[in-house]
Amino acid sequence: MSRTLRFLSWFLLGVSLLQCASAETGAEAWLRYTSLKPAGHSLPHLVAAVGASKMVRTAGLELVHALGEKPVSQGPAPALPNADAFVLGRWKDVHALFPELNRSRAPTDDGFWLKTVRRGRAKYWLIIGGSDRGVLYGAFSFLARIAQQKEVATLDDRQTPSAPIRWVSEWDNLDGGIERGYAGRSIFFDNGAVRSDLTRAGQYARLLASIGINGCAINNVNASPRILSAEFVPQLARIADAFRSWGVKLAVSVDMSSPVVVGGLKTFDPLDAEVAEWWRKRVDALYKQIPDFGGFVVKADSEGRSGPSQYGRTAADAANVIARALRRYGGVLMYRAFVYNHHLDWTDPKADRARAAYDYFHPLDGKFESNVVIQIKYGPIDFQVREPASPLLGAMPNTNQSIELQVTQEYTGQQRHLGFLVPMWKEILDFDMHVNGATPVKKIVSGETWHRRLGGYNAVVNVGLDENWLGHPLAMANLYGYGRLAWNPDLSSEAITEEWTRLTFGNNPQVVSTISKMLLSSWHIYEGYTGPLGIGTLTDILGPHYGPGIESSERNGWGQWHRSDEHGTGMDRTIATGTGYIGQYSPEVQKLYEPVANCPDELLLFMHHVPYTYVLHSGRTVIQYIYDSHSLGAEQAGNLVYQWKSLRGLIDEARYSEVLRKQQYQAGHAIVWRDAVVNWFYRASGIEDERGRVGHDPNRIKAEAMQLSGYALVDVTPWETASGGKAVACTTGSVCSASFTLDREAGIYSIAVQYFDQNNGVSHYELLVDDRAVDSWAADDHLPSDKMNGHSSTRHTTLNVELKPGSVVKIVGRPDGGEPAPLDYVEITAKIAREAP
Ligand code: GCU
Repeated sequence: MSRTLRFLSWFLLGVSLLQCASAETGAEAWLRYTSLKPAGHSLPHLVAAVGASKMVRTAGLELVHALGEKPVSQGPAPALPNADAFVLGRWKDVHALFPELNRSRAPTDDGFWLKTVRRGRAKYWLIIGGSDRGVLYGAFSFLARIAQQKEVATLDDRQTPSAPIRWVSEWDNLDGGIERGYAGRSIFFDNGAVRSDLTRAGQYARLLASIGINGCAINNVNASPRILSAEFVPQLARIADAFRSWGVKLAVSVDMSSPVVVGGLKTFDPLDAEVAEWWRKRVDALYKQIPDFGGFVVKADSEGRSGPSQYGRTAADAANVIARALRRYGGVLMYRAFVYNHHLDWTDPKADRARAAYDYFHPLDGKFESNVVIQIKYGPIDFQVREPASPLLGAMPNTNQSIELQVTQEYTGQQRHLGFLVPMWKEILDFDMHVNGATPVKKIVSGETWHRRLGGYNAVVNVGLDENWLGHPLAMANLYGYGRLAWNPDLSSEAITEEWTRLTFGNNPQVVSTISKMLLSSWHIYEGYTGPLGIGTLTDILGPHYGPGIESSERNGWGQWHRSDEHGTGMDRTIATGTGYIGQYSPEVQKLYEPVANCPDELLLFMHHVPYTYVLHSGRTVIQYIYDSHSLGAEQAGNLVYQWKSLRGLIDEARYSEVLRKQQYQAGHAIVWRDAVVNWFYRASGIEDERGRVGHDPNRIKAEAMQLSGYALVDVTPWETASGGKAVACTTGSVCSASFTLDREAGIYSIAVQYFDQNNGVSHYELLVDDRAVDSWAADDHLPSDKMNGHSSTRHTTLNVELKPGSVVKIVGRPDGGEPAPLDYVEITAKIAREAP
């Protein structure tokens, strides 16, 4: 007993238990701790950390930080305090102090057990970990309970994470840019080196620990070989230091050609002995400086990256040579299954990118070393808003697997649109692959189905230097939800949403129910106005993957085709007549998708090519569904603004206005999406919208129909991203104007001006009615384009403008830089009962 007590240290909490209110920047995310005043809970003022571990101490300090102001005193203690206390430690240490604890309940792995125990007059809140990490996770779980106003007076809660690998990936480049990052520059790198100030890296690790994440790969999968150079390793060690006390292992992405580029060898052939030796030495050097290094992520033979195919070798050859070097230290190799030919022959009806991962990796099943994990994107294409579960997830019984998810919203609105993806991930994780009895994906990746020791999760997150980490304050629900699902994929979307909202915005019931509703509806809303029925992305895939660009995916080798023409739409992936993709699933799953009559509407166009007049299970034709879905989606995106506005005064002003701005922008951009898609399909199909909306915009006045002064007509590419394919640009002088005379009855109207906010200038606009200035604004957003198109098309709405017949409405544009104050149209709508967004 005395041996254990030698390692027991204790902290006394501040007596005041006060929290200083600080401005809500979003930096604290779900760890705000503002509502932890233990009213109603008689929590102890003592924290005893048992054992010598730094992580256990960190857990203790987190409790102190959360519940008090600062530790009043601390130091080694001779014995367990004879007073109410928190006692934190690993099972073996805590069990020694509390031998009455039931051994069969001992937490395992990174799991924990929260347990209250009485001894004499003292009561102890035990936070027991299966590992040091488990203690940390237990402390966070305990604090999350209090923050959600859950009972903590009596506890008996034992939890075990679903899978050993619970990682995140950051696609940061060494110059500080982030591929597919939407929240500022890298928290790790700047200007070719690791940042000198790694405060944010440490704070990020704390956030990750609080949701049970235990590894972080810090650099782009399109990896710079320099990451493995001798000068870089000490820099990496500094990041590992910032992560360590939070139990987050450092990992890096590596390029297969590193032995040549960094090592100066003549080859990177994975079967070459010198190459194997090079990897061994590199890994030795890494572990010498970072003994708890997590491992590597590899993207090879994909999208132009180097890979084993250059030497006629397989992914197994490539993975194994590196894995053997790592295995000696317990490191893992995450080999990505995102391998496909991006020069596919688009004229070949049998060519299919969706087949690639299975075709390539399935024959290699069982050929990988025990510390290789094949990292499989959730769907067979690429992080689309709707995809079926990747068939590869059910096809490698003798190989470790992990699922790759994407928190950064590359194809789902880039954190400018609300897109809470937990419900989508849940559908994938719960999907039964029918490969070994009931085999939901979550049991395959956890290793349970095929009794694999390794497996789990990796999500691309791409946090940046923006104070709130991901840009949109509500986007953090995705990071939180990801961690919670990796810990326990049986949690419901509703439970996760409620937890996150309470922790992030407090416990006001109206706040909780409104934000939860907004989050839970947002995926379907986004899908509705961008790409329903499993059509795949209709975004500009050759550009930033953001706004609409319906044909960008066609007639090129990238293979994200939807094959829409004048007759019909969708990819024929059937066994009978198509690419045979459906044949990659188990017979039970095949029957879900083929024949066409069986296929659920939401994946119809992913699996089948059908005429526009094909009747869905819902009873509507495909074309009418496209018209309806995009209209409804845009309307619902507008409704999100009203929902958010109902929270005014109930949450802090800073986050309120930031989200409001984002939602108003989304409402406008959803209209851009709707119009682009419905007009494109109307032109392709020639079929009228039964409800008469498509092609008829009675409230719109196109810029080209206005009286122009200085403005000149320009064609917009692609045509569907501007009304009538045209806009006006002010290229001749420093000020231009466009005006028209109103012929509607007197009343109160809202005036929406649709313009293009390019990122190569800050144009200024002014709205005048009868020469009276009513509004002005600057096109100062940072949208991902320097041209007029679906990425830059933006809406500015002025509410409550009094107009009478004969009123002259004028927009004055002042160009700046390369941005010619471009204008598309004006839409005038009569005031309705509630304010327009
Ligand atoms: C997508 C993404 C790329 C990324 C790739 C990958 O295609 O657009 O930026 O490199 O996925 O996952 O490797």
